[in-house]
Amino acid sequence: MGGEKTSVIPRHVAIIMDGNGRWAKKRFLPRSAGHRAGMERMIALSECLFRHGVSFVTLYALSTENLSRPEAELSALFSLFREYFTQYAGRLAETGIRMTVIGDRSLLPADIAEKIAYGEEKTKNGTRGTLVFAVAYGARQEIVQAANALGGRHVSEEGFSSLLSTRGIPDPDLLIRTGGEMRLSNFLLWQSAYTELYFSKKMFPDFSDRDLLRALKEYARRDRRFGKVGQ
Ligand code: FPP
Repeated sequence: MGGEKTSVIPRHVAIIMDGNGRWAKKRFLPRSAGHRAGMERMIALSECLFRHGVSFVTLYALSTENLSRPEAELSALFSLFREYFTQYAGRLAETGIRMTVIGDRSLLPADIAEKIAYGEEKTKNGTRGTLVFAVAYGARQEIVQAANALGGRHVSEEGFSSLLSTRGIPDPDLLIRTGGEMRLSNFLLWQSAYTELYFSKKMFPDFSDRDLLRALKEYARRDRRFGKVGQ
């Protein structure tokens, strides 16, 4: 009775990659250098997760709120997206990883939306794992859009989930946020109802593979009861 038996390795890990700007500031570098260092870490961490048997990795790359950051910072981030979605898609395809993007692509420069589509097409046959990027993503916007799509129809929780941009992707088992803040910042609000949360004070570019393994270890120790009585 009670506690669900859950796998020691989470099936789906989501990461809020926070602290790039502060990492750069501490080193008297421009914020763009922090984002580049963050991208390098992001690549290594996602590879590490797939190596350890995680099937889905979701990364918060840009929130709808981040879209109002200064032009210079946004354009540096967009350059990284351009670079990643073109150059890295081939590597993902070679390693059997399918990539996909959730969020409102119409808010992005058209060429980035095209590069995303290119990456999705190039990696669509990957079966080893799925890498989901949340770009121009906002959970409240996603929920409101789904509610509007209902047009007054009554649906089950599963029915509602199928109207979200994450349809077909299981809910995250573990959500990691770096950078010391302890909030969800409009990320996967519906999907993380029973997700285990893990907060690290480390800035994202400093969050090492070792730190990630520590988070996985901590997850394995958690008793996931999903609202039921424990054993
Ligand atoms: C939050 O740190 C991070 C972001 C808004 C951008 C995350 C992007 C990447 C890690 C790199 C590129 C991603 C792809 C998909 C190629 P912050 O800037 O808010 O840090 P701060 O809180 O210290 O200011």
